[in-house]
Amino acid sequence: MSVISIVGAQWGDEGKGRIVDYLATDADVVIRYQGGDNAGHTVVNEYGKFALHIIPSGIFNPKATSIVGVGAVVNFDTMAKELEQIPEKLHKNLRIDTRAHLIMPYHCLLDGAEESKRSEHDKIGTTKRGIGPCYSDKAARVGIRAGELLDLDALKAHIEKVLPKKNRELEYYGLKQFTVEELLEKCAAWKKEFGSRIVDTVPIVRAAVDSKRKIVLEGQLGIMRDLDWGIYPYTTSSNPTSGGAANVSGISPRGINEIIGVTKAYSTSVGGGPFVAELFDEDGKKLRDIGAEYGATTGRPRRCGWLDAVALDFSSYMNGFTSIAVTKLDVLDSFDEIKVCEAYELDGEITRYLPDTNGQERAKPIWRTFKGWKTDTTKCRTWKDLPKEAKEYVKAIGEYAHCPVSCVSVGPERDQIIIL
Ligand code: GDP
Ligand code: IMO
Ligand code: MG
Repeated sequence: MSVISIVGAQWGDEGKGRIVDYLATDADVVIRYQGGDNAGHTVVNEYGKFALHIIPSGIFNPKATSIVGVGAVVNFDTMAKELEQIPEKLHKNLRIDTRAHLIMPYHCLLDGAEESKRSEHDKIGTTKRGIGPCYSDKAARVGIRAGELLDLDALKAHIEKVLPKKNRELEYYGLKQFTVEELLEKCAAWKKEFGSRIVDTVPIVRAAVDSKRKIVLEGQLGIMRDLDWGIYPYTTSSNPTSGGAANVSGISPRGINEIIGVTKAYSTSVGGGPFVAELFDEDGKKLRDIGAEYGATTGRPRRCGWLDAVALDFSSYMNGFTSIAVTKLDVLDSFDEIKVCEAYELDGEITRYLPDTNGQERAKPIWRTFKGWKTDTTKCRTWKDLPKEAKEYVKAIGEYAHCPVSCVSVGPERDQIIIL
């Protein structure tokens, strides 16, 4: 049996989508286990280039069942738009768990309004997709779940109960309020389009586990924006860690065989909060230009920096990586020197331990310099093909993460990968 959990080892956008697309080519089940359409998972394969927001990146294997799982929050308008771009023969096996929560139109409005009330320093920089407000309703036990679409009478009663309070919140922000009728009309349209795909997915997952099939769990975002372990409050509202995967994928922690942390060969972050290894110089600009570091969901320029080994060490410990996938190595091909933030200087002391948010805000990076390889790696397909300096750099990343490197990606295309 092979249950592989793919986890973002940094601040998101590590290249999880491309790794899941690769691993899913012979998988039986792929589960997007948390998050919503705040994600932008880029996949480049024989069907074209896609920025997937809510549909699992395994969708390009028509033999696999793609599941939007229990821990996810779903905006069916986004899903409908996304499905239009994917050939129909590929998405017949897409399923959404009855327990996944619905992102309602008021969640998106409230997300934007809450963000605009925050001061410049306090801005989380959310994707305004309604993620925080939707998970808040889930925790407050007033959320609406996908399965409720299947019984519109009961759903009407539920909306009647929750809407007055939601409308009061909207009124507080001076925003448009909703009627029960208009929300029900939207839900009825969602039911029509997606009703047959909304099922209890546990029997599907359990059957795959029992018959030892290959299952890939696709995480959204990365640990540094995990609700508990990330740079709170500049986090998302779910748990992108391997622990989060075990909680909401329908597979017990004991049933997960591999945990692959995906890390870029450098760092990026979109949104607010501390980012110790951030660069404000020409190197940062060069990383952004060569790496095309612009958000797949919002188009915002990503903040760029060298690899943060302190954060990677924490990430590996907390997630229990069995291996790591290093992506975007090719982006470093033209640098004379490459740096890694090996330690932090915090209040006059040197530390390799990742402090909490306010400690990260005060920390200064301590750099180690590696020699660049100044060679095009995009056509390398085996470990042997890589230049000596690139091998040394990748080996060092494995050492920082205390686990083997299982693959190195040297371009966005499915085959631009070196399996170790
Ligand atoms: P995700 O959210 O973790 O799936 O990552 P994103 O898709 O948001 O960001 C990763 C970006 O890097 C996408 O534009 C990918 O096409 C691209 N990408 C992934 N792996 C590589 C790689 O090895 N080299 C290069 N040059 N680009 C890559
Ligand atoms: P993928 O899955 C990068 C960031 C936002 C913001 C914070 C909270 O493509 O890696 P939210 O909308 O979730 O309430 O925003 O998290 N963020 C991401 N950054 N990649 C993502 O997804 C992100 N999803 C959310 O910028 O700082
Ligand atoms: Mg992304």
